[in-house]
Amino acid sequence: MDKKVIAVVGCGRIAKNAHFPAFSQMDNVRIKYACDLIIEKAEYFKETYPDIVENVITDYKVALADSEVEAVFVLTPNYAHYTVTMDALKAGKHVFCEKPITVNYALSKEMADEANKQGRMLNIGVCNRYHKSVEKLAELNREGKFGNLYHVYCSFRSFRSIPGLGGAFTTKEQSGGGVLIDWGIHFLDLILFILGGAKLTNVTCDAYNEMAKDMKAYKYESMWAEDTADVENGTNDVDDFVSGYVRTDKASISFNGAWAQNIDKNEMFIDFMGDKCGARLAYCGLFDLTDGSTLETTKEEYDIPDMYLAEDRDFLDSIDSNEKKRNHIDYILESAKLLDTLYASAEVKKEIEL
Ligand SMILES: NC(=O)c1ccc[n+]([C@@H]2O[C@H](COP(=O)([O-])OP(=O)(O)OC[C@H]3O[C@@H](n4cnc5c(N)ncnc54)[C@H](O)[C@@H]3O)[C@@H](O)[C@H]2O)c1
Repeated sequence: MDKKVIAVVGCGRIAKNAHFPAFSQMDNVRIKYACDLIIEKAEYFKETYPDIVENVITDYKVALADSEVEAVFVLTPNYAHYTVTMDALKAGKHVFCEKPITVNYALSKEMADEANKQGRMLNIGVCNRYHKSVEKLAELNREGKFGNLYHVYCSFRSFRSIPGLGGAFTTKEQSGGGVLIDWGIHFLDLILFILGGAKLTNVTCDAYNEMAKDMKAYKYESMWAEDTADVENGTNDVDDFVSGYVRTDKASISFNGAWAQNIDKNEMFIDFMGDKCGARLAYCGLFDLTDGSTLETTKEEYDIPDMYLAEDRDFLDSIDSNEKKRNHIDYILESAKLLDTLYASAEVKKEIEL
């Protein structure tokens, strides 16, 4: 079997926790280059996965100049998604880029246009579209199980989870925003996916930066991405709490999201409200289905396959089949537009019509 020759740009947390473990389970992939600005981070993967990682580099353009490299995985912080992806597409490579597409809708659209112009695949890491619970809910909705699915509510709230305070995650210019773009993208995107797409009609949103206005006074027990934090000289100008309402031609959607709050609860779920049935999906978990006619609540038991493995496989398969799969950028742009419009509404403190 011909192996896919790929380069990985960005060897941080998502590379370590998701994509390299996935690559190591695939028998059709050769990682010709692991690239990171910090060479030690790339070297870690060559040492950990010597059978699949061949070279380490700090300049991704070396990989782009190599005609053997067919596809590039862009696993950098949000601010680098656009540049690395555009360069890779222009060099004729197929690209898998982590979520969010990039820091705003206009640049996201340019990325989609470039991929289509070059005739190259560009998939986005909205991995939850490959979660088995999400697939099942989408199927139940298609079958009409919910009856009239009139509203979806989601909560992506955590007690203390501001990442890398002061660094790229909390600097709007580099991240595009805070909890809404970082976590909200997963929730809102998979709601649109389960609805089978929806035409957005109007949205309203409030966004707050409250919990670490004084970065030195922010209290926490642990901080993810702490290696990127810069409390002394950094910036925190992004949302740590958001609340919004979205009207569509299908169900309406409401949400609350918190990277941090003075409520000692982590509540990560999505409620699908139908007149026949309702479902509560535990984020990244199973769902309860409540039937309004019997008042019974059931939970199916099933294995949840690795969604990162599934999304990576589907991306590599799509190169040969030339078929746009569910994570293709064309199908994610609507979520990027929704995020942009929600932020715009929060900025002007008014409802916006699309
Ligand atoms: N799908 C998911 O569930 C999920 C989960 C976590 C993170 N992410 C996304 O993955 C991306 C990376 O997040 P992370 O937590 O792994 O960040 P990270 O900071 O741990 O890793 C990013 C790495 O990219 C490197 N880098 C930056 N610019 C580069 C360049 N030009 N060339 C080469 N290397 C470069 C950095 O040195 C760093 O090692 C983000 O966009 C984030 O939103 C997705």
